[in-house]
Amino acid sequence: MPINFHDRANRFTYANRNIDPAWIRFMEQEISWHGKRVVDIGCGGGIYTSELLNLGAKSVVGIDFSEAMLSVAKSEHKEIEFRNGDAYATGLQDCSFDLVFSRALIHHLRDLPAYFREVYRILKPGGIIITQNRTVADCHLPGSPDHLRGYFFKKFPRLQQIEKDRRHNHDKVVQALLQTGFTGIVSKSLWETRKTYATFEQFADEMRNRSGRSILHELTDGEIEELIRYIAAKVGTETPVTDRDRWSVWIAVRPE
Ligand SMILES: C[S@@+](CC[C@H](N)C(=O)[O-])C[C@H]1O[C@@H](n2cnc3c(N)ncnc32)[C@H](O)[C@@H]1O
Repeated sequence: MPINFHDRANRFTYANRNIDPAWIRFMEQEISWHGKRVVDIGCGGGIYTSELLNLGAKSVVGIDFSEAMLSVAKSEHKEIEFRNGDAYATGLQDCSFDLVFSRALIHHLRDLPAYFREVYRILKPGGIIITQNRTVADCHLPGSPDHLRGYFFKKFPRLQQIEKDRRHNHDKVVQALLQTGFTGIVSKSLWETRKTYATFEQFADEMRNRSGRSILHELTDGEIEELIRYIAAKVGTETPVTDRDRWSVWIAVRPE
């Protein structure tokens, strides 16, 4: 069953992680955040929303349609304004933001052009949309100690179809941006460490909680245990575990 973002039981799933310095460096290099009015759509627990302020943004608003997620974001990041809103209809004013960011949102949206139209509406002319997500190609890189997610699909091939159905491929994202009227489209790859675990058992416990990995909601508890044993056999259980993913980041401009 897909993850239910509105279930309070899942409210910490995107709340307790440290941001990879590689993500911060990437965002510093690619975007000028200083003095900008920014919105983070699908902000979850607000970890990245808060970091956008540290990157120099003048103000940041976090939008999410889940009160459960927002309740944690609000209590953890009191300096940020969080609002309940849908990605397709944020309730924000026309032409009011310099930058619109989203991370790990668009594979939860069926109608990508409708989302981009909403972003276009709230951006000022000259404003920039930054969309971070994984394509099917990103997800299906082979499993290795550096890319544990690849093992999920090797062990349970049916998960590949779920990703194919919900992920937008590169061409589709570019097409939808162009169709909306965005220009200057640039796409980049970013390797981001999700988390480093001091022991394999800590990693296994987080797998059992399905924390931060919505695809694991498609597996039963028994299958998760099988997957943990499978990964243990591949990477061993004696050394720290680093969980990294490759992401695609699309940057585009609303023309002046
Ligand atoms: C995978 S989480 C990512 C959270 C955060 N951006 C991060 O990277 O840690 C996706 C988030 O998008 C939110 N979301 C999904 N569909 C949405 C929609 N249609 N409108 C607003 N938020 C949505 C979910 O509630 C969830 O918090």
